[in-house]
Amino acid sequence: MASRFNFILAFSTLVSLLFASAPGATQAPFNPNALYLPVLKDNATSLLVVDIYKRTPLKSIPLLVDLNGKFLSVNCEQDYLSSTYNAPICHSTQCSQVENHFCHTCLSQAKPGCHNNTCAVLATNPLTNTNVVSELAQDTLAIKTIEASNPGPLAVVRYFLFACTPSSFLQGPLPQNVQGIVGFGHNQVSLPRQLASHFGFPQKFALCLSSKTNQNGVIFLGNASYRIGDKDISQGMQYTPLTIGSQGEYQILVKSIRINHKPVQFNRPLLSRTRSFGGTVIGTTDPYTVLEHSIFENFTQFFTNEFTAIGASQVDPVSPFGVCFNKLPPPVPKVDIAAPIIDFVMENRDTAWSIYGSNSIVKARPGIWCLAFVDGGYKPRAPIVLGAYQLEDHIFEFDLASSQLGFRVTLKADYNTCDQFNFNPTP
Ligand SMILES: *[C@@H]1O[C@H](CO)[C@@H](O)[C@H](O)[C@H]1NC(C)=O
Ligand SMILES: *[C@@H]1O[C@H](CO)[C@@H](O)[C@H](O)[C@H]1NC(C)=O
Ligand SMILES: *[C@@H]1O[C@H](CO)[C@@H](O)[C@H](O)[C@H]1NC(C)=O
Ligand SMILES: *[C@@H]1O[C@H](CO)[C@@H](O)[C@H](O)[C@H]1NC(C)=O
Repeated sequence: MASRFNFILAFSTLVSLLFASAPGATQAPFNPNALYLPVLKDNATSLLVVDIYKRTPLKSIPLLVDLNGKFLSVNCEQDYLSSTYNAPICHSTQCSQVENHFCHTCLSQAKPGCHNNTCAVLATNPLTNTNVVSELAQDTLAIKTIEASNPGPLAVVRYFLFACTPSSFLQGPLPQNVQGIVGFGHNQVSLPRQLASHFGFPQKFALCLSSKTNQNGVIFLGNASYRIGDKDISQGMQYTPLTIGSQGEYQILVKSIRINHKPVQFNRPLLSRTRSFGGTVIGTTDPYTVLEHSIFENFTQFFTNEFTAIGASQVDPVSPFGVCFNKLPPPVPKVDIAAPIIDFVMENRDTAWSIYGSNSIVKARPGIWCLAFVDGGYKPRAPIVLGAYQLEDHIFEFDLASSQLGFRVTLKADYNTCDQFNFNPTP
């Protein structure tokens, strides 16, 4: 009995030594409840970048965040070194998890991204709106865990499904060094859904985007509690139904817009969700909220009237904005810029998201501030596409299981910002 026990002990020690000695292959010894990803706003493009550990040995890979993207797509054509790469064969169960796939053949030399009888998927670049044929692949992925608001070990997924793209995928105004795009969209193989089904945690994630280009914000995955120090910033959260648009994009129903509590007149049926065009899309690849032209016209006019009434003075606009100002009213505490309050009123009329100066006015160049909304013309992808600038220093929780979007007033109302989540282990 004792010798058998000793054997088991010795054997398990050996196993843990083996794992410990293979850097990056260490399996997290538990099922985490929550993971987090630091997210950085690129200083040149204002687009969002996360670093995700992939491959064996693990390597940190910078990826563009696409809230509505279907899966993780990464350039495999250059420097893809990994001892754990594999591509599922065509008609396998892994392939059937991706809605549109077909059998792949590749005429050049076998390498990551190039095998016969695997499956091919279309990886979409949201900046150029182009698709490239890519091999569906599996490899190791690792993300940091949080335990009771403290950083925990890396959580490792050995068979994470992703699209292995040719380098032609990386077109458009991408942040420097970015090697792929990570999708958080409504799809079985998006990052939050694959991680939730692997670890058995809730299908939920939350964005807290930093307004600074040198300080990280955070994306939480799973059952995280949102705490800055002792403060629970989910206090006062409101919820609105989260729906999925015809292109698989996240939508909410904004019924009306108010500025300083007064309704802005525009062609309301534009916002109705009964047509394929309609609903308010939430996106992270648009730096500023985009409004359909007729909404934009009346919205900017209304805002400008209210803003000049409290001391702002208008100047010629700076592209891409429609209205700009060279003199602002005296600053106010918390949200910095005294500006008319914009309310997006949701389908339940008691639910409204209020946008203050720190999310409505942007410094476009020295001495010039602009209303941080852009004109989407007559045929935008949706009447309202909420952009990243309006989301900054807010927490938005996407609960995919209950189809709810949770949000609350800017963190700045409590003198907080999204860069204050500090999960770095104290040295
Ligand atoms: C952005 O930041 C990087 C690193 O901090 C710096 O090297 C680069 O010059 C900055 N670029 C711009 C456009 O400010
Ligand atoms: C795939 O099959 C074709 C035709 O049989 C062959 O020429 C090619 O080398 C194969 N590709 C790989 C990567 O094995
Ligand atoms: C999420 O976490 C809270 C407390 O941290 C716990 O009470 C709750 O049961 C968890 N929910 C799920 C679905 O794991
Ligand atoms: C736009 O605003 C003007 C002035 O308030 C109003 O007369 C017009 O009806 C509005 N447009 C729409 C489509 O409601």
